[in-house]
Amino acid sequence: MNLEEILEQGKKEIKEIIEASGLEKWRVKFLGRKSALAQWGKQFEKMPLDKRREIGPLYNQIKSELQKLYEEKLKSIENFSSEEFFDYSVKSPPAIKGHLHPATLVLEEVTKVFEKMGFEIVFGPEIEDDYHNFEALNILKDHPARDRWDTLWLKPENKNLLLRTHTSPVQIRYLETHQPPIKMITPGRCFRHEATDSTHEMQFHQIEGLVVSENASLANFKYLIETAIEAIFKKKLKIRIVPDYFPFVSPGLEIDINCLKCQGRGCRLCGGKGWLEIMGAGMVHPKVFENVGYDKNKYQGFAFGLGLERLAMLKYGINDIRLFHSSDLRFLKQF
Ligand code: FA5
Repeated sequence: MNLEEILEQGKKEIKEIIEASGLEKWRVKFLGRKSALAQWGKQFEKMPLDKRREIGPLYNQIKSELQKLYEEKLKSIENFSSEEFFDYSVKSPPAIKGHLHPATLVLEEVTKVFEKMGFEIVFGPEIEDDYHNFEALNILKDHPARDRWDTLWLKPENKNLLLRTHTSPVQIRYLETHQPPIKMITPGRCFRHEATDSTHEMQFHQIEGLVVSENASLANFKYLIETAIEAIFKKKLKIRIVPDYFPFVSPGLEIDINCLKCQGRGCRLCGGKGWLEIMGAGMVHPKVFENVGYDKNKYQGFAFGLGLERLAMLKYGINDIRLFHSSDLRFLKQF
């Protein structure tokens, strides 16, 4: 091989090298004591002076080019191995999949049951005005019933906009824009300025239901709610219907479920009462029909407001409502 051929071969072979051991072999082959270049060096010493003058500069140039190739490659190998090595071909471990929150699971279950019974699912705003949250529901200003819905006002100095305290204002919004027959449910978040305990949260969900026609009755309501609860819990439960007061229904009712955790003996979940209140209900008050421009002598209806977390607590035996928003994975992983 002449000197130019040695250089060409060196260039060709160094391109393929990706690791230090390969480069060392290359160095021995092209720059080592027994390399073709070193042979040239030995012959060079024996040549006459004029030949040495002719070949010397070329020999030095080829030698320094091979040296340069070696140093550049060495640097690139060192840089590569000092970077953190990342093997893109390694299969990644399976991604950790999340799952639905227990409140969402129950919400889906409940809406499915009502959808099957022909109810329309509608939604209303979480920021409400005083008229829809209170006034149109016959809860007049200074009415003592407003104490029940301790309110979070957006601008306390101007009591108009608020975070809705219940889902009942959606009844008004729906009645304002629809005509009977009506069969709707409206799930959503509610907010109350309340001291929390094992069954009370500041944020919770309700599912409001409204049925209006010329002959909707409390007997229809009782049948509907017993059927729905049986479908949600997949078994017949003991239900108690007792009188209650809400200004937008007459008569007003409270619906309690016999505590599933203690079978009515009394425990932390039911506050020792044996029953857990899950909803308020009643026949729509004629004043509400008047407020939305309905003929109160022609139509009648019933409405109910169900506490979703309370239902989930019964279904899953959860004894503290505060766990829902605790973000505690030990709790969430159980669903
Ligand atoms: C109401 O909010 C009425 N709007 C319900 C209603 C609708 C009555 C239609 C008549 C006709 P009440 O404040 O009782 O009523 O709340 C209804 C349900 O929401 C309760 O039974 C309970 O299950 C749930 N709930 C109420 N307050 C809280 C709270 N702080 N934390 C968790 N759940 C609550």
